[in-house]
Amino acid sequence: MFAVDLGTSKVVAAAAELGSGGEIHVTGVGVAGSTGVRRGVVVDLGAAAEGVATAVERAQRMAGCAFGRVVLGLSGGSVASANERVAIDVADPDEVSEQDVARALAAAREVLPGEARALVHAVPRHFILDGVDGIRQPAGLAGARLELETHVVTAPSGVLRNAVRTAERAGLSVAEVTLNGLAAAEAVTTSEERERGVMVVDVGAGCTDVVILTDGAPVFTAVVPVGGDLIRNDIAAGLHLSLERAEALKVEQGCCAAGLAEPGRVVELDPGRTRTVAEAELAEIVAARAEEMLSQVADTLRRSGAARDLGGGVVLTGGASRLRGLPALALRVLSMPGRVASPRGCADVDDLLGAPACAAAVGLLQLAAAGLQPAPQQVAATASRRRRGWMDWLPRRR
Ligand SMILES: Nc1ncnc2c1ncn2[C@@H]1O[C@H](COP(=O)(O)OP(=O)(O)OP(=O)(O)O)[C@@H](O)[C@H]1O
Ligand SMILES: [Mg+2]
Repeated sequence: MFAVDLGTSKVVAAAAELGSGGEIHVTGVGVAGSTGVRRGVVVDLGAAAEGVATAVERAQRMAGCAFGRVVLGLSGGSVASANERVAIDVADPDEVSEQDVARALAAAREVLPGEARALVHAVPRHFILDGVDGIRQPAGLAGARLELETHVVTAPSGVLRNAVRTAERAGLSVAEVTLNGLAAAEAVTTSEERERGVMVVDVGAGCTDVVILTDGAPVFTAVVPVGGDLIRNDIAAGLHLSLERAEALKVEQGCCAAGLAEPGRVVELDPGRTRTVAEAELAEIVAARAEEMLSQVADTLRRSGAARDLGGGVVLTGGASRLRGLPALALRVLSMPGRVASPRGCADVDDLLGAPACAAAVGLLQLAAAGLQPAPQQVAATASRRRRGWMDWLPRRR
């Protein structure tokens, strides 16, 4: 399997093999700086492709093999989601057959997105049989009318096409485009959290992917155009620093609660010179922006209408989730307990892709491995493959 996460600040390319027990062995990882991507959207094809080519080259060298068709992760660009229902008449109401289930899954893939938008995912949530909902395995049950609720994610067609074009410009062929948020959710949540309801917030450099899962499957997906770059920009503006120095200060000394700063401690603004600032003052700048970013996530949560169903709390991931004090701030702004998570569940991952910034890349590999790319053209094919994560319950086809 080959995955490429085209982020705002970095590209991650990863190659992996499936072990005999279905586990993933990462064989190659390449990371390169990303230019040409703004808030998760390609704005300079040539520059973005260069980053992809460099990352892939590094991963290939480590893996000792050339990249085949890749799963490409996408983040930004007015992603929208909705939960749609399709219905079919069961052929023999005495017993729903595998064929009926397959027809319902196929009908769900026919959903037409609005003009200038493309369908990125159509993830089955649950079946409804003669009005009884929450059914995961309808085959074998008696019933006449079979409905399927599907989580549908769309993005502007241009954004999608430009991401694919970037990968192609870098010499790759794209098998699937997957939303980074869904991939990250796969990599950082437990099945218990997914069942109890959980919000995954992948805070990157340019955008924040928000995915809410309830009853084991995604129910709301959005991308909020805020990220760690905004905090860097505020530090640079507030303390009259270069972006590079502001970025280093944020990563090394930044925290988003003045209370976490040591009283009286100062931070050197410019090594070698004598300008300093109180750690608490730096924390104030960081906290103000972090709070504003989380407020936008809170607005998104309200918009989802799912806030009351999240017994699993919030899982923060992505590079900027490492900001000190973020879980406490999230608890206050989102009124939910939060934890910061690194990707789990694939062998070797700690060494190669263990940081929160790599959650999406690991999730892309996991979804590819499970043959569960939730892209519309593959939903029906998923069932006969290994099942895991938020697609755990999908009915098996023969
Ligand atoms: N220790 C740290 N403390 C605070 N911020 C950090 C830390 N490490 C990384 N970051 C920030 O994380 C961000 C990068 O995160 P990530 O690599 O997940 O983004 P990306 O995938 O390139 O971008 P996006 O997902 O927005 O397209 C940068 O803003 C960086 O400053
Ligand atoms: Mg990212």
